[in-house]
Amino acid sequence: MSINLAFMASGRGSNLAAILESIKTGDLDAKAVIVITNDVKAKALEVARTYGVEAKAFNQDSISRDEHEKLILDELAQHKIDFVVLAGYMRILSPTFLRAFKDERGFYRVVNIHPSLLPSFAGKQAYEDAFAYGVKLSGITVHLVDELVDHGPILAQEAFVRLDDDTIETFKARGLAVEHKLYPQVLQMLSAGKIQISSNRQKELTEI
Ligand code: GAR
Repeated sequence: MSINLAFMASGRGSNLAAILESIKTGDLDAKAVIVITNDVKAKALEVARTYGVEAKAFNQDSISRDEHEKLILDELAQHKIDFVVLAGYMRILSPTFLRAFKDERGFYRVVNIHPSLLPSFAGKQAYEDAFAYGVKLSGITVHLVDELVDHGPILAQEAFVRLDDDTIETFKARGLAVEHKLYPQVLQMLSAGKIQISSNRQKELTEI
């Protein structure tokens, strides 16, 4: 079964490009319906247009987060969407936004990729934080989003080693290569209905 994906991104869009390429080659059975950014200068907009996907920027300056999210929700409501895919979207989504994508089991149909083995090193600088900490092994997490930051049921994780002569640049590059492989694979597993979400942590959270 093919799935419809909406993307949200803030920056260069390399994960977006990897996913759109997988759709193009047929490795990922999905349709990219729209790409939304919160920055008119985000390279992700160009990436989307290169792949012929509709792309819109919603500037967040001088409006509240609620107003900003309302604009995005109004846009997303115009489309049939199975999952919202966060691809380097660097703004926290409110519970109100997330609840628009709640499924019948109480999970949010919002997927995120994070460049660490969660729950270690949540936050905006995960590569830098893990590297500075001196980890010998790091990794990438793809998870469903819940109401906490870089948190929610884990769909997949893949580890990568830190080599003795790594710099932050080589460490990041090794991680990014894993991201670009893992994210399309996990989305394909969702498309094929092959992921069982076993954690009921989010359900507990939303019921509080
Ligand atoms: C990626 O490394 C992604 O894992 C990270 O932002 C980068 C976006 O790069 N996301 C987070 O840190 C989420 N907390 P991209 O725009 O090239 O895909």
